[in-house]
Amino acid sequence: MRLGIPVETYPLERRVAASPAAVERYIKLGFDVTVARGAGDGSSFPDSAYEAAGATLVDQAAAFGDVDVVLKVRAPRMDAEGGSEVELIKEGAALISFVSPAQNEDLLKAFCARNLTVLAMDQVPRITRAQKMDALSSMGNIAGYRSIIEASNEFGSFFTGQFTAAGKVPPAKVLVIGAGVAGLAAIGAARGLGAIIRAFDTRESVRDQIKSLGGEFLTVEIEESGDGGGGYAKVMSPEFIEAEMALFREQAKDIDIVITTALIPGKKAPLLWTKDMIETMRHGSVVVDLAAENGGNCEVTVPGEKVVVDGVTVLGYTDLTSRMGNVASDLYGTNLAHLLDELGGAEGWNVDHDNEVLRGALVAEKGEVMWPPPKVEPKAAPKPAAPKPAAAAPAAPKPAPAAGHGQKAAAASSGPAKPIFSQKAIAISAGLALLWAVLRFTADSGGSYAANQFLQHLTVFVLACFVGWQVIWSVTAALHTPLMSVTNAISGIIVIGGILMGRDGVSGTATFIGALAVLFATINIVGGFQVTRRMLRMFQK
Ligand code: NAI
Repeated sequence: MRLGIPVETYPLERRVAASPAAVERYIKLGFDVTVARGAGDGSSFPDSAYEAAGATLVDQAAAFGDVDVVLKVRAPRMDAEGGSEVELIKEGAALISFVSPAQNEDLLKAFCARNLTVLAMDQVPRITRAQKMDALSSMGNIAGYRSIIEASNEFGSFFTGQFTAAGKVPPAKVLVIGAGVAGLAAIGAARGLGAIIRAFDTRESVRDQIKSLGGEFLTVEIEESGDGGGGYAKVMSPEFIEAEMALFREQAKDIDIVITTALIPGKKAPLLWTKDMIETMRHGSVVVDLAAENGGNCEVTVPGEKVVVDGVTVLGYTDLTSRMGNVASDLYGTNLAHLLDELGGAEGWNVDHDNEVLRGALVAEKGEVMWPPPKVEPKAAPKPAAPKPAAAAPAAPKPAPAAGHGQKAAAASSGPAKPIFSQKAIAISAGLALLWAVLRFTADSGGSYAANQFLQHLTVFVLACFVGWQVIWSVTAALHTPLMSVTNAISGIIVIGGILMGRDGVSGTATFIGALAVLFATINIVGGFQVTRRMLRMFQK
């Protein structure tokens, strides 16, 4: 199978769908890779680097038309010079790129007319398993970081406070609105430069993340959760927005830099920073509106432009990731490589509809629009003790969200409720129960001391397995690492048990098993501490 990587022609787009390192990954997955000459120029990847990585250089038309899978960053342009880029793609081929299907109905129709199989990188569900394919997060992270670099470029002072012989300079005060991927990256970058950080988000769940990065989490006196599920926000009530804006109005007088990143999946960005707030900001202050492309969070934002209003610079740049094209292309290429792997590589290529990541990303196939994907039923809620008929009725299904993130939240929940115990687990449990019964019977009918001892240990072992299994299964996957650290305590008990077992010297076998238990528990303890240290280091400055 041949992959094609064309030059991105969207205005100001400097990224490319593969760095030379990513090309090597694609080749390892069994693909032949062709790259359009000059495709990496904007990201500082010369043609020679692609050749050295094993790609074949071709012209733009061949990178679109002579391949089985086209890899792009931006969606193909219908209005490109010389005609629609969709028309350049071979009929029946596959395309993987950003698509934004909610905003691009005509594009979806054009894909179907050419019988293309299209996977949208912006539709990859934001679930744990798909993190390595989550290009929205990779790009959001870069945009957040870059927003601080752009702000510092416009801001006429230090970010960090200074005491000099010539006088004292206060640290810059930065307000970040929306602490998603981009917002948190902005907080981290601004904190790194020494600024004072305040942040606001409608989702209470980000409070600790903001604090761990050294920011202050601002709140409003109104109780409403902004959690729309799957880590995404929902539209807030007018009362909440009013309270939030009252808070911002207060902050505007004191803040030097505002980074707005508020986004609700599939909706126009909420308007949160108004002209009257800008008027109360100090001259020389800076607003960076990351949501510019989605309508903007700031009233005076001009998408793609820098404007100065009442002495305040407002940046509406929509190419922040492109301004770091080198790293952005590399990370995006890595996301693509993981998706290609999920598709089975060149040998096992299969757009499996039962794979929630692939089905979530699939927007067109065999002449049919596949977006939005079927809603994945949320897990059945635990039944109340005495269910009333009204409470038992299923909630009316919510309309499918208009764009990517929304369906991601839906996809994040699991499919039809599975039985708690698999058949395999039941078979193993039944086998162990039978073994236990046989040993019990043997011990009862005059079995040896050793048989009785073994029975006791087996009982403890089986119960420990059961309890451990239940504990791990009941804890959300994201918390497994901290959980592992906690299990150090349990491992400590095992070490003591193992030593006692060996010391008693009941039998050679018991000593051996005791030594094994000490060895494995020690590995668990050391590994647990290593992981904990690594995790803590991630939060240390
Ligand atoms: P995200 O979905 O991870 O985060 C958005 C955050 O906004 C969420 O935490 C949400 O709770 C919060 N939010 C929603 N409504 C709010 C409200 N009323 N008040 C306060 N917070 C609110 O999205 P991500 O990946 O962080 O992206 C953020 C923005 O950056 C998006 O608009 C995205 O399109 C944009 N972006 C811009 C780029 C550029 O070059 N300008 C490049 C990449 C992303």
